[in-house]
Amino acid sequence: MEPTMNELMNHTAGQGQAEMFSRAWYNEYFRRAADSPAHARFCEAVYGRDLCQHGMMDVDEMAFVAGLLKPGERVLEVGCSNGHISEYLQQQSGCRLLGVDYADVAVEQALRRTADRRAVLDFRCVDLTRDELPGTDYDTILAIDSLYFMGDYGATLCKLNARLKPGGRLIIAAFQVREDGDPEHVLEPAHTRLSQVLRTLGFDCVRHDFTANVRRHWIRNHDHSLRLQADFEAESNGFLCEARLAENGWFRDHAERETLVRYLYVIAQNAAPGPC
Ligand SMILES: C[S@@+](CC[C@H](N)C(=O)[O-])C[C@H]1O[C@@H](n2cnc3c(N)ncnc32)[C@H](O)[C@@H]1O
Repeated sequence: MEPTMNELMNHTAGQGQAEMFSRAWYNEYFRRAADSPAHARFCEAVYGRDLCQHGMMDVDEMAFVAGLLKPGERVLEVGCSNGHISEYLQQQSGCRLLGVDYADVAVEQALRRTADRRAVLDFRCVDLTRDELPGTDYDTILAIDSLYFMGDYGATLCKLNARLKPGGRLIIAAFQVREDGDPEHVLEPAHTRLSQVLRTLGFDCVRHDFTANVRRHWIRNHDHSLRLQADFEAESNGFLCEARLAENGWFRDHAERETLVRYLYVIAQNAAPGPC
């Protein structure tokens, strides 16, 4: 687990959220979110479109990612949740996409919803910390706000890189915060924890800066969860609102102190990464 996410989890533990981000927690989240009108309104307001999101990627960033994908290319998306973002990316780009996630409830929702498009869009239940990744020779492996959950960054990058075809790429959206004791430059694109690991392993990478967007995101995320709290409770989905509030105050604080950045890392396949 990436250190900053550990800190977030410790922060939320005191609020009765010790199991936050576990498979059971995500299953509960998506079981409720899929049919929640308040959650749909929340996503529409925060992300610009309701795709049952649980990360930080809004419509502008999604359009940018869709523009990087090519018709017919083979894409593996890790941490795809219930697949609405995958579906959007597939439709926009014409790629062939397999999404994997460990939340079986979310994967079942995705499979049911997209049964008529199985040739280009498929989903599978995979625990990224324990299971083998399905398939090989991918053109692109995509991770939208899911890298934090996969354990050590270096081991994860090597595991994903091994499933790319020559000339393929990893596309990773990830945030970085600066906490007390972190070096000043940890927020700079070439010095985030992920960038440091990429350099050690000898990966070439282009970074796109989504920082301004993510700072606005967390302020909206916090505002709208407070605004919609009564609506969530009226439909007995207080859990969904509590889940958001358990993290968005922490992120908002970092956004307002400007100690939060986010980059989209486009990483070239590496035939011989260094110590994996
Ligand atoms: C922050 S959410 C992001 C979801 C989606 N990509 C988005 O942007 O809305 C993280 C996702 O990673 C999944 N996840 C967390 N740990 C995982 C693991 N060990 N194996 C597979 N998926 C995992 C969760 O179930 C969840 O769907």
